[in-house]
Amino acid sequence: MASQTNSDVTIIGLGLMGRALAGALLTAGHRVTVWNRTTAKAEELLARGALPADSATSAVNASPVTISCVSDYQSLQQAFAPVADELDGRLLVNLTSGDSAQARDMARWTERRGAHYLDGAVMAVPPTIGTAEAVILLSGSKTAFDSQRPVLDALGTATYVGADHGLSALYDVAGLSMMWGVLNSWLQGVALLATADIDASTYTPFAVRMAQGTVGWLAGYADQVDSGTYPPDDATLATHAGGMAHLVAESERLGVNAELPRLFRSLVDRAITAGQAEKSYPALLEQFGQESRTS
Ligand SMILES: NC(=O)c1ccc[n+]([C@@H]2O[C@H](COP(=O)([O-])OP(=O)(O)OC[C@H]3O[C@@H](n4cnc5c(N)ncnc54)[C@H](OP(=O)(O)O)[C@@H]3O)[C@@H](O)[C@H]2O)c1
Repeated sequence: MASQTNSDVTIIGLGLMGRALAGALLTAGHRVTVWNRTTAKAEELLARGALPADSATSAVNASPVTISCVSDYQSLQQAFAPVADELDGRLLVNLTSGDSAQARDMARWTERRGAHYLDGAVMAVPPTIGTAEAVILLSGSKTAFDSQRPVLDALGTATYVGADHGLSALYDVAGLSMMWGVLNSWLQGVALLATADIDASTYTPFAVRMAQGTVGWLAGYADQVDSGTYPPDDATLATHAGGMAHLVAESERLGVNAELPRLFRSLVDRAITAGQAEKSYPALLEQFGQESRTS
């Protein structure tokens, strides 16, 4: 790590998230240097004891570890282009949202400059930063992660997901897919029950029970996926297909949007055509490994 630093950590990017990150580090008692393209956004943090930097370069030079949190990777490249020669021996923790390829490219870029790199995904909104509720996924060098635990733990629940720098971004989108899957399925049910004048609050306790029951199957289904065997211990894909046909028909008859039920059914139909009818639900995974179809 580089020497002659005067703070523990530098934050580059003081938007909504960057200010929350810097604020949490100050609350935890760290010496924090901050830099933002628009300098006015640093004022509140400076009043709380953060140290100012007059450029991204001097900000990076102030600490052994820099946390970046700007809009996107294009912004990140613009912010770090002048800093490239200063990174040698330092650690960059990048919490800017992006995809796995961007994370791996950034890792190569920093490593070519002799720096260590952790890529992160913030699974939280700014007001929760600094609390256990704020999950921060990090991937890259485990040694770098372990060396910065006091800093990373001050931001929330710092969770190491693996050495491949693309993993944080992949966990990020996988988690979002889980979230939207649950939300859209809940809304489908709300719309169906509304046709019988059942309001969302009346329906929702049942929806929660169904969702929790389903989540309880996942660990066993994961074992099936990992072993590549799909014994139909509970229900076959053919049985699921029958239930989905009811969901599609009921939605269409009641004038409720049937796109989501039709998607469910088309995936299962394809699996059945591929000879999977007597297997358990996760055999459908094969359909997720294929290029998406437009028809
Ligand atoms: N807010 C959330 O709830 C949330 C949750 C999870 C993840 N994130 C991620 O966190 C990152 C930041 O989000 P945010 O909510 O803080 O966004 P924001 O409030 O819009 O802030 C964007 C930041 O990026 C800086 N920036 C943009 N272009 C730049 C450039 N070319 N050079 C230097 N700095 C540049 C901005 O500087 P200026 O002030 O000069 O414009 C500002 O500091 C994003 O990747 C976002 O996806 C946010």
